[in-house]
Amino acid sequence: GAVHYYDFILKESNFTRLCSTKSMLTVNDSFPGPVIRVQKGDTVYVNVQNEGEYGVTIHWHGVKQPRNPWYDGPENITQCPIPAGTNFTQEIIFSDEEGTLWWHAHSDWSRATVHGAIVISPANGTTYPFAQPDAEEVIVLGSWFTGDVMAIIDEALTTGGDPNISDAFTINGQPGDLYNCSSDSTYRLLVESGKTYLLRIVNAVMNEEMFFGIGEHNLTVVGMDGAYLKPINVEYIMITPGQTMDVLFTANQSPSYYYMAGSPFADTNAPFDNTTTTGIVQYSGNYTPPSSPSFPSLPAYNDKAAAENYTALLQSLASNEHPINVPLNITTSMYITVSVNQIDCNGSCAGPDGNRLAASLNNISFQTPTTDILEAYYQTLPNVFTKDFPDEPPYYFNFTGDVGNNTIFPSLGTKVRVIDYNEAVEIVFQGTNVGAAENHPMHLHGYSFYVLGFGSGNFNSTTDPLSYNLDDPPLVNTIGVPKNGWLTIRFIADNPGVWFMHCHLERHASWGMNTVLIVKNGTTDATSIRPRPGYMPPCSTS
Ligand code: C2O
Ligand code: CU
Repeated sequence: GAVHYYDFILKESNFTRLCSTKSMLTVNDSFPGPVIRVQKGDTVYVNVQNEGEYGVTIHWHGVKQPRNPWYDGPENITQCPIPAGTNFTQEIIFSDEEGTLWWHAHSDWSRATVHGAIVISPANGTTYPFAQPDAEEVIVLGSWFTGDVMAIIDEALTTGGDPNISDAFTINGQPGDLYNCSSDSTYRLLVESGKTYLLRIVNAVMNEEMFFGIGEHNLTVVGMDGAYLKPINVEYIMITPGQTMDVLFTANQSPSYYYMAGSPFADTNAPFDNTTTTGIVQYSGNYTPPSSPSFPSLPAYNDKAAAENYTALLQSLASNEHPINVPLNITTSMYITVSVNQIDCNGSCAGPDGNRLAASLNNISFQTPTTDILEAYYQTLPNVFTKDFPDEPPYYFNFTGDVGNNTIFPSLGTKVRVIDYNEAVEIVFQGTNVGAAENHPMHLHGYSFYVLGFGSGNFNSTTDPLSYNLDDPPLVNTIGVPKNGWLTIRFIADNPGVWFMHCHLERHASWGMNTVLIVKNGTTDATSIRPRPGYMPPCSTS
């Protein structure tokens, strides 16, 4: 493949939305940030130059980075932050990904303003598995906070309660016509009658899953998370933070203006942003613009059935050109509960019942270490992590029933799960009714995985596997575990490294809904972690 070079200059600059100006961290002064464009199998070098005020890391979400965890990016998992005033050149190795992915900061809440799309076109001599669209466009859904995002999460962790919700959602950085002071800069997509457009949609929102649609226009979903799907014809999509979707639509309505819109799917008791962002699909030609463009009909914020019915439609293309490889004989299996909890902060916070909100996997609330886990693993440094992340919850109860208060407190730890090279791994995620039950978009670094099935209630290991899709399950890197339900994924552990696994709702990740899978080396150099680069950002400020 070809080699590309990008310069990412991270620095603070002023942006104004909703009639309010703030200084925020961006890449190359743009929000959203620059698009990385490659073909399948290419390599990219990004020189990240941190001219901001604090240490930051950048992650290439959904790029598997074969044997190359050194440049994956999650803070204190595979590297320490790039100190302000220094640079770090990251090597991004594309392998089988094709479609759309994205990049984002992976330290504290900096990803709110530091993110952008990655477009991966078919390799030379190959084509899309659908008719070549006439044009394509990146659509990034984002969150706008009037306040400083770092201050918002710091305050939430100190006071123990929920962080402030965002003040707007955005389409390509703009809130749209339904918000104050915004209609002059609403995002517009100019289209010509009869043409077909490929939208590369990224959900970079911080804390809400999103419904998205275009008034009067049907959508055809053809890809997700850098892999192709069997085409799905829908009126709206449901996309979780972390996910990307490739969507076709044809400008086949009478020439006019139509709204595209995004609104939250948030079936939760926790506070969330319940506003709607809009953009305009504007046909070329001479006509009188409508006073109110037609609006897509999107499901209500708590329409769990609408969200799950959509997810149930996702199927891999599973063609000769794009074959699938679902593991059938499982050699490592894990059952992981996903909960929102509380931690006793010994009187130092004022959250629910005098405790701080927390979150956990198998009742372990992840503590981020101060030396990165990759370095500690590679150099065998003691006291950074322990290898005892459990394969099942510490005790069983009716996870999705009326759970009592004794289940709410997790233990703290930096516990990882070590997996042998080439194991066939199955993970059943079990949503629980501990704390506030809600959907959790779980994301795994270093891999895409097959989603075999999901359902409501407690997982039944006898009957639920009977419903698994082994023929054409979708291959993704992020998937919503249903509220009070279960979801099963599978993958072959053929990418050695240290790989973060976490909920992509940022507040849950901040509260500890994370763990790390360490996949051991195979027996040859070609199946082992690449040698440590000569320079990695230092873990102590000196
Ligand atoms: Cu998109 Cu660990 O992240
Ligand atoms: Cu979550």
